[in-house]
Amino acid sequence: MTLSAIEVNNLKQAPAVEGVLPAVLHRWSARSFADRAVSAADLKKLFEAARWSASAYNEQPWRFIVGIRNSLTYNKIFASLIGFNQSWAGKAPVLILGVASTKFSHNGSDNAHALYDLGAAAAILTLQAAALGLSTHSMAGFDRDAARQALEIPEDYALGAVIALGYQGDPAALGNEHLIELETTPRVRKPLSEFVLSAWNEPASLT
Ligand SMILES: Cc1cc2nc3c(=O)[nH]c(=O)nc-3n(C[C@H](O)[C@H](O)[C@H](O)COP(=O)(O)O)c2cc1C
Repeated sequence: MTLSAIEVNNLKQAPAVEGVLPAVLHRWSARSFADRAVSAADLKKLFEAARWSASAYNEQPWRFIVGIRNSLTYNKIFASLIGFNQSWAGKAPVLILGVASTKFSHNGSDNAHALYDLGAAAAILTLQAAALGLSTHSMAGFDRDAARQALEIPEDYALGAVIALGYQGDPAALGNEHLIELETTPRVRKPLSEFVLSAWNEPASLT
């Protein structure tokens, strides 16, 4: 029997670690979205959060192209997604394409940190979404050339990822066994000892 949306949400939570921000523990990438719009007020909060992200030279290279379901922009972003992502993302009420200016505005030189900064802002956006009870799902699986052309994105902007945004839905609504299995599988992570190092290949002692 397929789990309910609440049961799925419970099994996707990260185990509580004292002192870690609740939004960090609550965020996970849903693929089933409920038929419920995101208010303009909530949408604005996500971008206010992203706005205060740090960036190299305070360049704030990120630009977010927001498509609301049934709009031309939404349809253009959706059309650029690979087939697998199209199989579930079309129910999300909002699709957001994150892009980053690759030139510094103060001197026109290359900004090698543009995608790093876009990713940081996008991460804050997803955490703000989680704090508001919203689900996000980032996607690298889209045709960059198609998106660039359809949305008339200039060459000096690098394309990051598409974020599907909305309220988590019932897993059964995905209507496909493989997607339901992905939606109902607990999340896994590497232990800290694999990625927090005191020297190369030496786990840092955190106690
Ligand atoms: C940059 C980026 C690209 C991703 N691309 C896709 C994608 O194209 N399709 C997809 O279904 N999930 C995609 N994901 C979701 C990841 O698979 C997911 O974040 C990962 O499995 C960890 O799960 P969690 O976000 O629930 O913690 C992407 C995530 C990120 C951050």
